[in-house]
Amino acid sequence: MPVTVLVGMQWGDEGKGKVVDLLSENKSIVARYQGGANAGHTVVVSGKQFVLHLIPSGILREGKTCLIGSGVVVDPSSLIDEIEEIKKMGVNAEGRLFISPRAHCILPIHRTQDVANENRKTQKKIGTTGKGIGPAYSDKTSRTGIPFSFFNDREKLVSAVTALVERKNCLMEHLYGGERFDATEVLAYIDSIAPKIMPYIADTREKLRIAMENGEEILCEGAQGTMLDIDHGSYPYVTSSNTISGGVSTGLGISPRNVDKVIGVIKAYTTRVGEGPFPTELHDETGQKIQDEGGEFGATTGRARRCGWFDALVARYAVEINGVDEIVLTKLDVLDKIEKLKVCVAYEVDGKRVERIPDDTSILERAKPIYHEIDGWNSKSAGATSMDELPEKAKEYIKYLEEVSGAPITIISTGKGREAAIIL
Ligand code: GDP
Ligand code: IMO
Ligand code: MG
Repeated sequence: MPVTVLVGMQWGDEGKGKVVDLLSENKSIVARYQGGANAGHTVVVSGKQFVLHLIPSGILREGKTCLIGSGVVVDPSSLIDEIEEIKKMGVNAEGRLFISPRAHCILPIHRTQDVANENRKTQKKIGTTGKGIGPAYSDKTSRTGIPFSFFNDREKLVSAVTALVERKNCLMEHLYGGERFDATEVLAYIDSIAPKIMPYIADTREKLRIAMENGEEILCEGAQGTMLDIDHGSYPYVTSSNTISGGVSTGLGISPRNVDKVIGVIKAYTTRVGEGPFPTELHDETGQKIQDEGGEFGATTGRARRCGWFDALVARYAVEINGVDEIVLTKLDVLDKIEKLKVCVAYEVDGKRVERIPDDTSILERAKPIYHEIDGWNSKSAGATSMDELPEKAKEYIKYLEEVSGAPITIISTGKGREAAIIL
């Protein structure tokens, strides 16, 4: 059963794109199972930088088939732009990229609703990417959304769009106070985009089934991270999909019995974009230094990422909930110039020591980190491709992270480029 799942173990931006690119060399299919264009996966190949939002990072390896499963919400305009963007850079998606007809379409009205929702004064800000993710998934689960299969049935499409616009206008009028939408305009938009997107629609589940039957290697690329999972993350400061390994089953139509390996990607420190609890967040010069050295700015929105120390509770939780077999540790090099490092080993909550991620976000909000301090290495790990090239103290740090996380670290990433990695 050659299915490997790759998931983010923190709050996203762990470097999943780079690792997918690294691991996809021996795969025949790379598949996205959830999320949408809220993701931003930056991959650097031979000095060229690609930023992928919807297209699986496997597209950068010649001959690989890339799938977007039914669990993904697809903004066709964004996808078309992305296809053109990579084409300019010499990568062709035609004939290699396929989207499930069951995947739901993100329309401009979803993006408008996302932004309007965030701007409501009476509601807490989540700090979403504004890409229409929450509204599109809400419509899907309310059974009022528009899967791409509807594009093939005019009657169904017109009726679904009319009903959707009616509901949205109710919200615009009574809740958001914004301008009204027009079903004719929405249909005109769909008509303009359909000829560009429909050639990519195909039975992705069947492609996976055949590949599995032939014993081909499949890599499932997660977006976001464990702590952003709709069911198991820091709700409500989460995204609207199941980011964890379990999402593969629902988002691609693969039986859980077919998944044979889970790889977790984690940074050597922690970052988070948007609102919500982040116990190890740094508000000092060190946090600033990590942000500068790590170039911690969102690839999708350009927002500065909040930075903080490695949180072992988050790591253990991610190992447990995803069933992580192996860990890929990224951005070790970013810590090259930091004298003293800290790792959070427990929280103090209301005077008590807590060693597990609480199931109640308000507890996480009150959690104060208890740290284990470790000497930094103050020398170069950047670009290392073997353990021998790493400073002793960097090796000690890696060993410690492995111990507190509860799964073996098998790859260490030491730079942006495909080649900057130690594969153990
Ligand atoms: P993703 O969303 O998990 O794919 O991560 P992003 O691509 O949003 O963010 C990770 C950023 O770190 C990207 O700009 C990568 O090019 C970069 N990156 C990945 N691995 C490393 C690493 O080991 N060292 C450094 N310095 N940068 C890295
Ligand atoms: P990748 O795949 C980091 C965050 C947003 C916000 C919350 C909800 O690059 O790791 P949404 O637009 O999804 O409704 O926003 O989730 N978020 C991410 N943070 N990396 C991402 O993706 C993210 N995708 C969404 O900042 O806090
Ligand atoms: Mg990202």
